[in-house]
Amino acid sequence: MATNIRRCFPKPNRAAVSESIRRVADSVPEPDDHGLLSVPSCDLLSGLTEEAGDALSQTIQLLSCGEESAIHVFYNEGDRIGASQSSFLQSQAIMYRIAKEETLHDLMLTRVSELLPYDERHHELRRRARHFYLRLAHPEPKYHFFRISELDSVVCMIMHGLLTGTGKLATSPALSKIAAHIRDDEAGHVRATRERVVELGMTLSERLEEAEPIRTRIVEMLSDTHEALDTLGVDADQLFKRILARKTS
Ligand SMILES: [Fe+2]
Ligand SMILES: [Fe+2]
Repeated sequence: MATNIRRCFPKPNRAAVSESIRRVADSVPEPDDHGLLSVPSCDLLSGLTEEAGDALSQTIQLLSCGEESAIHVFYNEGDRIGASQSSFLQSQAIMYRIAKEETLHDLMLTRVSELLPYDERHHELRRRARHFYLRLAHPEPKYHFFRISELDSVVCMIMHGLLTGTGKLATSPALSKIAAHIRDDEAGHVRATRERVVELGMTLSERLEEAEPIRTRIVEMLSDTHEALDTLGVDADQLFKRILARKTS
């Protein structure tokens, strides 16, 4: 797959999707960006130091790659539900709503990222993250969605860390709004994907068995930005411990 230097995955091409399915997707309203996409570029990074800017750019490479990947996952799942014999219009619409929220996250993070430093180090992080997200896929959707719910929980934890206590985004008016928006959406995604996992028949013992290896892999990926997270005021060691120790439900 050809990749742009700043993208891990291309934007989805919906042209090949059947008309009836596309109509359902198109009927799901676009999420409100609350004006965040129109914040002038000169105000977007206000309150951020140069050192924190480089660290944020590193962290964004991993997060953006996840958003780009998630857009495909949720559109595909919506299409898959739509193409199945039985009708689950509500589940299908939820998948498209999440796909559209992920698209908004991608747009927000791309805007911020384009104002931040980007060199070979950031590119290498993107390359490694892309490999992680490709390996996240599982042939059985219930496992794939369980992994995504774990990942989204971690995104919530990172955003929360950036916004509270020593988190360096707390003092940036625009960035803190973007981070809070993504955190709140991801909390909703965790609830929706957990419901989807149960709908798809994943048992508690299967979830318990899957939790440890996927969390270990998430921490491995995030350890590439250990120093960057510390610079951003998020204690990476503490964060990793909390990710691994979370209760599975
Ligand atoms: Fe997202
Ligand atoms: Fe998400």
